[in-house]
Amino acid sequence: MNTGFPADFMWGGATAATQVEGGWNEGGKGLDTGDCRSADPATPRAQRRERPFKEMTTERMKAAIACEDTGIYPFRWGSDQYHRWEEDLDLFAEMSMKVYRMSVSWARIFPNGDDAEPNAEGLAYYRKVMEGCKKRGIKVFLTMLYYSIPVHLLEEYGGWTNRKMVDLYVRYAKTLYENFGDLVDYWLPFNEMNAGRFAPFSGAALIRHEGENFDQVVHQALHHEFLASALAIKLGHEMMPDSKFGCMIARFCHYAGTCSPEDQLQRQHDEQYTNWFYTDVMARGAYPSYMDRYFALKGIEIAKDPDDDKILREGTADFISFSYYFTQVSTVNTAWEKTDGNLVVASKNPYLPTSEWGWQEDPTGLRITLNQLYDRYQKPLFVSEFGLGATDVLEEDGAVHDEYRIAYLRNHIAAMREAVIDGVDLFGCTIWGIIDLVSNGTIEMTKRYGVIYVDADDAGEGTFDRYKKDSFYWYKHCIETNGEVL
Ligand code: BG6
Repeated sequence: MNTGFPADFMWGGATAATQVEGGWNEGGKGLDTGDCRSADPATPRAQRRERPFKEMTTERMKAAIACEDTGIYPFRWGSDQYHRWEEDLDLFAEMSMKVYRMSVSWARIFPNGDDAEPNAEGLAYYRKVMEGCKKRGIKVFLTMLYYSIPVHLLEEYGGWTNRKMVDLYVRYAKTLYENFGDLVDYWLPFNEMNAGRFAPFSGAALIRHEGENFDQVVHQALHHEFLASALAIKLGHEMMPDSKFGCMIARFCHYAGTCSPEDQLQRQHDEQYTNWFYTDVMARGAYPSYMDRYFALKGIEIAKDPDDDKILREGTADFISFSYYFTQVSTVNTAWEKTDGNLVVASKNPYLPTSEWGWQEDPTGLRITLNQLYDRYQKPLFVSEFGLGATDVLEEDGAVHDEYRIAYLRNHIAAMREAVIDGVDLFGCTIWGIIDLVSNGTIEMTKRYGVIYVDADDAGEGTFDRYKKDSFYWYKHCIETNGEVL
């Protein structure tokens, strides 16, 4: 029986280029879809949760492309890691971090996505950062595509609705292998594959148009992403025989609202359509049969080429990773109280406390999730995101007393340890976002996740200086005791 975390457990932190990097128009980088997501700093919190705020429109896209400065586009400044990456890596090393889950921006490597040659300056930048990790004894977990794509790919091809994206992505992947194959320890072709359904613009660069069957559009785009992921994994394995490739979803654990069979069935459907579908395709290599009925009900017909099933079969992931922020209730009762959650609005569970943003905190759900995933796939697991978004206060002496975050991390890491003792093969976890960054869902700095504070506000005002929060010291101690002392 396992008694705790394995000795080589990968403790780390995660960020996304779009949210942390800034430097949006420097070093030859092209404009990407993240650079076009706007948020007026005056937008109230309640409004930031609503769908229209999170979705993109053609008009907003046009305004963003026309705007040549940072304007009201927070992802254009991020946390300024583009200029401060060395300082950030020093802090990660001081924390004894073993792995950094970072991402590269497609538009920094191919500014238009379909350029004849990659941007040498972009490649050199990421090489410096990855070498910087290695020099500090930090492994690199690379998310190859974290939401944003070059705007040109949206304008020219319609983004992931177009099958041409598959070839362009595979070419991009090949460039990454050729340039960083000696530096990356774990590869992840896509962040949260199910985001295409729940956050269509972030996940699949989709804009909703009147009159179309949007479910059809979403699932066709997802099919192209599945193919791109599978082909990239196959190619990666061929080019780098020892490489390890993962897949990832935003994992939404569901509890039935009551023990009525109807609620139990609803739970099963919710699990299938929001979770299992994605990992079944990427880990088992085939569309599951339960989706046939779902597609028929929604009038979805996925256009497939004769070879597609083979492609999916041959490009399965070596390990499964997922983000975990909250759990929710499944019920047929449409009047059930709602609360906010990551990417989705969730049904409320009266047994769980919620964060300031309404997300339901549930460490036990993480243990359940890990067991469910391992039971189903028997592949190694990695928690690629977990963390608490909260308002922090920077004191005059530079301290940030975030005992609420420490409690959250402690409880979730303790749940992971329980899962390992249950027999789950969990080999690492990365706290989201290890350093404060712009929130993806609500496009603000105020919702902070980091154990490192960044002095910047929602309008991008501030020194961008870094400060160690109390959770920084707590996590350092956790890593150094391999999760024994929480
Ligand atoms: C994850 C995303 O789903 O949730 C991240 O992969 C995101 O990009 C994180 O930042 C937290 O969500 P939010 O909306 O608070 O930033």
